[in-house]
Amino acid sequence: MCGIVGYIGNRDAYPVLIKGLKRLEYRGYDSAGVALLNGDTTIYKKKGKVSELEAYVRGKETLSTIGIGHTRWATHGKPSDLNAHPHQSEKGLFTIIHNGIIENYSVLKKTLMDQGMKFYSETDTEVLANLIEYIYTSEDISVEVAVSLALQKVVGAYGLLVISREDPNLMIAARRSSPLVIGLGSNEYFIASDATPIVEYTDRVIYLNNDDIALIRRDELVLKNLVSESTKVNIKTLDMSISEMEKQGYEHYMLKEIFEQPRSIMDTFRGRINSETNEIRLGGLLDVKDQLVNAKRIVVIACGTSWHAGLVGEYLIEDLARIPVEVEYASEFRYRNPMIGPDDVVLAISQSGETADTLAAIQLAREAGALVLGICNVAGSSISRETHAGVYTHAGIEIGVASTKAFTAQVTVLTMMAIMIGKEKGLLSEKRFSQLLKELNDVPGQIEKILELNEEFKHIAEMYKDASNALYLGRGVSFPVALEGALKLKEISYIHAEGYPAAEMKHGPIALIDEKMPVVFIATKDSSYEKIVSNIQEVKARNGVVIAIVTEGDSIIKEIADHVIEIPKSDESLVSLTAVVPLQLIAYHIALMRGCNVDQPRNLAKSVTVE
Ligand code: M6R
Repeated sequence: MCGIVGYIGNRDAYPVLIKGLKRLEYRGYDSAGVALLNGDTTIYKKKGKVSELEAYVRGKETLSTIGIGHTRWATHGKPSDLNAHPHQSEKGLFTIIHNGIIENYSVLKKTLMDQGMKFYSETDTEVLANLIEYIYTSEDISVEVAVSLALQKVVGAYGLLVISREDPNLMIAARRSSPLVIGLGSNEYFIASDATPIVEYTDRVIYLNNDDIALIRRDELVLKNLVSESTKVNIKTLDMSISEMEKQGYEHYMLKEIFEQPRSIMDTFRGRINSETNEIRLGGLLDVKDQLVNAKRIVVIACGTSWHAGLVGEYLIEDLARIPVEVEYASEFRYRNPMIGPDDVVLAISQSGETADTLAAIQLAREAGALVLGICNVAGSSISRETHAGVYTHAGIEIGVASTKAFTAQVTVLTMMAIMIGKEKGLLSEKRFSQLLKELNDVPGQIEKILELNEEFKHIAEMYKDASNALYLGRGVSFPVALEGALKLKEISYIHAEGYPAAEMKHGPIALIDEKMPVVFIATKDSSYEKIVSNIQEVKARNGVVIAIVTEGDSIIKEIADHVIEIPKSDESLVSLTAVVPLQLIAYHIALMRGCNVDQPRNLAKSVTVE
């Protein structure tokens, strides 16, 4: 949430910053701004997209080799020019950009106001800028010490960059619970909230840890903790390419990412399943395999789409590996007093690896003594570092705010885990095991076939683009697919949509059914097929409109539903991987037809790093 970029070196800073902000815009897009230090500090900031900032700056003075930039997702104060970052301290000595929330900002603000300091924005960030300046001007100390003393007074989360005309060759980066990465060049450094703006300049990076403060000069980088003790610099190599971050001819990132799924799923299982030796090898879990296989219970913690993947995992692990699974919203789990202990395995699922609630839930589970495993997409992310062990999904960078390929990659990992545990426990015969591996191998090809039906999905979208409500229904493993389909539609098209277990319909949602509301059924040929056919009949008996995802060749539902979408036959355990694809595409087309910004839906941000 919010994007941070900084540059210090010998290049012109502004083009690096503006390009970086464009790469980071998926993290927040309420307003954007830059500050350039060249003797004095020049700030340009604007409500709206980065392109609006760029237009505003065009023709203005930008000469500088040190600067910071920010794209915002509003927390304190509505989106406006004034609330946009960077923020400057009252006397203009310090300029900062900040991700996260300063929780004690009102107490700090009151104290500073009592000392006569003035505030111009509604943000918590301006409070921090003024606090640093207040400390700096009250004592005879360096810029670096003033920043660390101020941060010691802060309660909350931050990833921030500070520049000061008092020490114009220094940039300070600090992190607590909000990620920062530093790219190492030759006598230059690139700092950002994730690696996307850095990758085109260098692949050598340092991920800051909590309470790290980096003192960055052109020829030197020093890492310290909050009390000014030096800490170890750990350089990593980025595994990311610029082309991954381009739209590659697609109109939107979301569309590109939907169409990438045959490849991304293959990348997720590549090198991990070996159909010849009949093996699944998840390298990241080798050290904890026994504990996982013998777990008495698995508790999944996640948010949003990742939580839906967790629900699919519950079905798969209970069915194939016979371990009880509970799936919890991380945001609920962390605020109650959950029954969790050393006998539990906790599985955190997250695309970004930075979701604040999931991180806090991990912390709680670790403190309770549980083994905490992660399923993450972003390598080097906080969740991948805070968990005891885990599996990367390898789906490639996901930029569209609506998660698509991350979901199918997460489900692929969960499928491999369930099959692996089932085999280790002797619950799956060699025949069943090989059949599941073969079926998983077939999924990318099946998705290719589904993607060929894109024009059909467009046609369905055209018919229902003006609906105000939609209901998504499924049973068993298709219930989380219904939830995911409804989430995709609501988050990008702003149509109210709900996902329900199909059998629950008659306990309430059936009252909503009329001839205007589309009801989407995931009704593939599985163990509850007859039941779901009855549910479709119940909707039709009330003049409802039914769109059904069915197994290729289904003739029964074709007779009753208004539209059928045929998907290739697959094992019941794997159907979520294919059935979700038409729902992603229908949501995409409806949003587009309604004139919505598909990649940057209103009010949302890609990684939710605030609580
Ligand atoms: O990065 P994470 O997987 O932890 O993110 C969790 C949710 O914020 C995310 O899935 C969100 O619900 C997406 N907008 C769904 O499309």
